Amino acid sequence: MSREQLAENVFLSEDERSVVILDQSRLPQETVCLSLDNEQEMFDAIKTLKVRGAPAIGIFAGYCLYVLAQRIAHEIDQAADDLQELPARVLYNRLSEQAAYLNSSRPTAVNLKWALDRVMACTAQTLESTQAMIAPFDLVQRIGDEAEAIQREDIEMCRRIAEYGLSLLKEGDGILTHCNAGPLATSRYGTALGPILLGHDQGMDFKVFADETRPLMQGARLTAYELNKAGVDVTLICDNMASTVMKNGWVQACLVGCDRVAANGDTANKIGTSGVAILAKHYGIPFYVLGPGSTIDMDCPTGDGITIELRDPQEVRGETAPEEVPCYNPSFDVTDHSLITAIITEKGICYPPFDESLKEKFGV
Ligand code: MRU
Repeated sequence: MSREQLAENVFLSEDERSVVILDQSRLPQETVCLSLDNEQEMFDAIKTLKVRGAPAIGIFAGYCLYVLAQRIAHEIDQAADDLQELPARVLYNRLSEQAAYLNSSRPTAVNLKWALDRVMACTAQTLESTQAMIAPFDLVQRIGDEAEAIQREDIEMCRRIAEYGLSLLKEGDGILTHCNAGPLATSRYGTALGPILLGHDQGMDFKVFADETRPLMQGARLTAYELNKAGVDVTLICDNMASTVMKNGWVQACLVGCDRVAANGDTANKIGTSGVAILAKHYGIPFYVLGPGSTIDMDCPTGDGITIELRDPQEVRGETAPEEVPCYNPSFDVTDHSLITAIITEKGICYPPFDESLKEKFGV
């Protein structure tokens, strides 16, 4: 059974033996797709931001498990006589190890763990309901269905987030965004860019300011590229210019994505986001966080519990600073919930107090 291609940034190869990604680290200069069929390549693709953006990482992880499960099923098939356990159980155990390995690639975006856990839970349930008598290739198909469901649901979630977000904007608004939370970071529409793109489709005009987003320039390379390609009015600014465009009265709303939202609303997103929120508060500009339920971590009470990824100092030094200068390179920061006007999800708009509004929509 072949699966439908649902997006252009993460999908399966025609023979379904590899996951294909659009290499985001080379955009916009080069449009190159990579075909990945083993766990080492998959781990590296996440680590080096070839695939990036919290929801896209989750979608990728789901398809990775499907491709890896197929490999394992073929290996089991070759060695059927030597197995000490039921084949489906062997598959589950080996796949669990690979899921743990992929999960160790980046710590902050909860969507990675969420997607891996979801696929493994579905595998465990199937194993239990069949008492592990299911044929490995049938179990693989079940894993593929779950991975596809993650992507299909993400498309729908982004659409709803875009609609809710758009309800908060007016024609002609100036909007500041940080990093990239567009279609490249999800499967379609995006989160923070969703309301802008949906409004644009409906004939509304906005003026977007895209922070370049040091050190890896997701704003300059990806947000400016995506919005420009869609015909949206976008102006690129250096990160340290956000205060000036706000002071000039050019920004009526800030829209940002998220990598993990704690139960009290504290939000981890690309480094520099909390500074934007502080500036927005100073200038009385609403600061909106947009993200799907898979980014809300109700098991994490506050932002203090979020692990922040530290990356290679060379990303900060670039070609400019002396080699020997030490650099600090946290990839994300945590915006305090008190700075956030609303968190926009596929289930609606959550307002403070977030511990109550998030619990109402995402509590168990
Ligand atoms: O390091 P990145 O590029 O993966 O960081 C991405 C962000 O911080 C995004 O804002 C976030 O993942 C939301 S994407 C819809």
